[in-house]
Amino acid sequence: VEHTFSIIKPDATKRNLTGSVNAVIEKAGLRIVAQKRVQMTRAQAETFYAIHRERPFFGELVDFMVSGPVVVQVLEGEDAIVRYRDVMGATNPANAAEGTIRKLFALSVGENTVHGSDSRENAAIEIAQFFAGNEIVG
Ligand code: GTP
Ligand code: MG
Repeated sequence: VEHTFSIIKPDATKRNLTGSVNAVIEKAGLRIVAQKRVQMTRAQAETFYAIHRERPFFGELVDFMVSGPVVVQVLEGEDAIVRYRDVMGATNPANAAEGTIRKLFALSVGENTVHGSDSRENAAIEIAQFFAGNEIVG
């Protein structure tokens, strides 16, 4: 089985949608094997999204990610990385397929409810940024 890293973003925690998002995740057959609610620091958000540092929306993205609590998670399943990306839907909710988390809940391309790792390499890096090995219980 594979692990992926997920964040339920501030637009969702503010609207009390953590359980609703988790219901879609679990219904899709992914297992939440680690989870905690945290307030990201600006430094943590900048490190996490360092890959987007040169993009015009970087400042907005960091401001958004520290604008309220997030729920960080490790999801487990067969092909969890690709499967979770499918469950999330397109980055811009206007382009997201029916039934996906972003179609159901996202407000805009920025306030788009969830993050999911895009590769095995990044999943390992992102998980290690927020969880110790003994916090992941499969
Ligand atoms: P993540 O799972 O969050 O990484 O989303 P993604 O892989 O679908 O998109 P990408 O990695 O390209 O962008 C990372 C995040 O930056 C997105 O999820 C958005 O929150 C934000 N983002 C992307 N494009 C824009 C944009 O045009 N404007 C703003 N404000 N935010 C954007
Ligand atoms: Mg991404």
